[in-house]
Amino acid sequence: MNVSRRTFLKTTLTAVLASGLPLFPPWPARAAADRKVREFRLSASPAKVNLGLGSDFTAWTYNGRVPGPEIRVREGETIRVVLKNFLPEGTTIHWHGVPVPYLMDGVPEVTQKAVNPGESFVYEFEATPAGSYIYHSHVNYQLDQGLYGALIIEPSHEHNPHDREYTLVLEDWVMRDGGGVADTRRRPPMGMMMRGMGRGREGFRTGQEPLLEPVYDGYAINGRVYPGAEPLTVETGERVKLRILNASSATIYELALAGHTLTITHVDANPVKPVDTDVVRIGMGERYDVEFVADNPGAWFLAARERGFGEGALRVPIIYKGVSSKEAVPPLFRRGMRLASYWDFQALHPMDLSAAGPPQRLYSQTLSGGMHSAFWTINGYVYPNSERLVVGKGERVRISYGNQSMMPHPMHLHGHFFKLINPSLPPEQWILKDTVIVDPMQRIDIEFLADNPGKWFHHCHNLYHMEAGMANVVVYRSE
Ligand code: C2O
Ligand code: CU
Repeated sequence: MNVSRRTFLKTTLTAVLASGLPLFPPWPARAAADRKVREFRLSASPAKVNLGLGSDFTAWTYNGRVPGPEIRVREGETIRVVLKNFLPEGTTIHWHGVPVPYLMDGVPEVTQKAVNPGESFVYEFEATPAGSYIYHSHVNYQLDQGLYGALIIEPSHEHNPHDREYTLVLEDWVMRDGGGVADTRRRPPMGMMMRGMGRGREGFRTGQEPLLEPVYDGYAINGRVYPGAEPLTVETGERVKLRILNASSATIYELALAGHTLTITHVDANPVKPVDTDVVRIGMGERYDVEFVADNPGAWFLAARERGFGEGALRVPIIYKGVSSKEAVPPLFRRGMRLASYWDFQALHPMDLSAAGPPQRLYSQTLSGGMHSAFWTINGYVYPNSERLVVGKGERVRISYGNQSMMPHPMHLHGHFFKLINPSLPPEQWILKDTVIVDPMQRIDIEFLADNPGKWFHHCHNLYHMEAGMANVVVYRSE
């Protein structure tokens, strides 16, 4: 089943309706009773963790560990997650990227009431489409305290077999009790007035000013900070797949694997025509599936480029079986390396939105803030006092982002994949994503088909920008 199934079916449906043909579904109807239910239990609770470097500290965890357990299911199965809250405050779980029914979307005050301490909530939805996702809390700063994990939906049939697969969850940590919120100040390049510093972590929701950005001292992969990391093993000749998930709260990484070319096969769960690259840039909430051929025996680092925040410390050794040298070679970030950009990608399964007609709605979203205020805004508004983007079911909606700030903003829309508009490609080649980095002073346009009625959060996935107001809600008319 193709990852763009929802949109594809809707488009097909619209075309069928328009053609006046009798309406028989072109896909086999599947009785709900046939669906296999996979049940998972996630307990949100404070726990002592150790990232392999430094001492133990208290994080907020699912089932006592960071990241939370990987949830892995097959496409078409039903996921049921029983969340039990042992935290001292309310919590929710959001299934980042999965177009779930909106009551399952886990956004406090938008789709549900936060689950109170001592209480439970059951999330249930169909696992579709296949791909790499992140689940995480959507309350306060809980994402930066450790409440996230990988959600992997395997395809119902594998098209592109590989010999070995690893999931890599990227994390930014303040390795102290409380995690990221424990050490928050204006980051060095933004040396403006420190308004709002150290005013508690409720931010403007309680009438106080929000936190500024944290200064991290641990960049972890799967809960381990190098050199505390376990090496990944590969064997000569294998085709290795890495699912790279950026669950960090405020860090964009540029990753390279020494001695190897990476081939990007999926972007935010969606298959793309394979692109070879030396460097993968991944923003908060983004996922890249990459493959490489293990044809260069040795010990190598998969590592991030240092951009001035210490994120160059993010690394994990990849060691070939039978290689005795434990001294891994880091990638050399040099001029002229290939860095895959959004504009290098084309959809693997071309898909046209045009059955829904030209865009019926256009929303301009100016992203700004940060320099002279502690708030981050969209069109000058601070969530929850922000605009509502009203859409009608079946409409084709365009959002035009303009970033008028000096920081990148990975913008994320809940409940839908959107097409990233690439003016140099025909529309059916545009790729589907759910999170897109809008760089400083850049303009980026997206389009989505309004095919999932509800109320959908839409925000910057820098947690500290979101909490400082950079969010609004897409609302279906007559909801
Ligand atoms: Cu992963 Cu509203 O976020
Ligand atoms: Cu932002």
